[in-house]
Amino acid sequence: MTKLKENSSYSINNAEKVRAFYNQNTDNFIAVYGEIIQAFRTTNVNDFLDYTIKSNNLKSGERVLDAGCGICGPAIYFAQHISSIQIEACTISDIQVEKSQVNIEKRNLNDQINVTRADYHDIVKIYGKEQFDSVYFLESFGHSTQKNILVDACWDVLKPGGRLYIKDLFKRLSNDEWEQLRINQICKDIEVGYEYDIADLSDVLNTIRSKGFILSFVKVPEVDITQFEQLTISNDFQNLFNIAKIDSWDDYIFPIDFYEILAIKPAINNLENMHLYFMNK
Ligand SMILES: C[S@@+](CC[C@H](N)C(=O)[O-])C[C@H]1O[C@@H](n2cnc3c(N)ncnc32)[C@H](O)[C@@H]1O
Repeated sequence: MTKLKENSSYSINNAEKVRAFYNQNTDNFIAVYGEIIQAFRTTNVNDFLDYTIKSNNLKSGERVLDAGCGICGPAIYFAQHISSIQIEACTISDIQVEKSQVNIEKRNLNDQINVTRADYHDIVKIYGKEQFDSVYFLESFGHSTQKNILVDACWDVLKPGGRLYIKDLFKRLSNDEWEQLRINQICKDIEVGYEYDIADLSDVLNTIRSKGFILSFVKVPEVDITQFEQLTISNDFQNLFNIAKIDSWDDYIFPIDFYEILAIKPAINNLENMHLYFMNK
């Protein structure tokens, strides 16, 4: 009998569980979050989407991939605000595809957004190589339990000079051993509740850099503190639907940090000229 390899995608890809999770919970997400399923946001979520456009430098005429698109709330906003941008969007959830299609149709954006039910680990097979100016993940990257494979796939589908943009939550670090243990425990609860695999920032940066991406920045999204939504929506969601609900605030420690990462696939495919990336381009 053939033995499955320890690291085969069959044994460690969690995507089917994530699919079931979103098929079951998308209506609940919509009831609390609306069309943008992101915890870190501004009170007026459109301000955060404007910020995302600038941060990922999305431009008119580009072809981009929204990996983990939800019900296409962000893709619709981008298509309405960036002329002739072409967005391929994919989600693991069948229900989200159905809802996305209705939302896209309602806004007459069929010529700008195409949504596919797909596992984002399979994007090379689905879209082909060197297709996109940007691949972006808006609080979706951390669902992957195969982040190395996912970064490889992003590299392949990006055109030379293309941008990988990830906005997500990452495990907080503490130099206090007890505090770190508590952080790890609370992260575990979130992972179980949301079918997430909260990333370690250093691991992700190492993966991206070892692949050959040039790190452009890593930072906390720069929103005005008075406009920050304070994560009340995600707390409401957890309490209402009993997902990763915080039962006691005794010895609770905030377990995550939000960061955005921008990395460039070099346009120069020549190791001798790589130093040019550090000059003012
Ligand atoms: C928190 S929601 C964010 C949705 C969207 N980016 C937004 O801002 O509204 C996470 C999304 O990641 C998608 N996702 C998770 N794992 C995936 C996978 N393996 N392939 C494709 N999509 C995935 C889910 O289907 C869901 O749409």
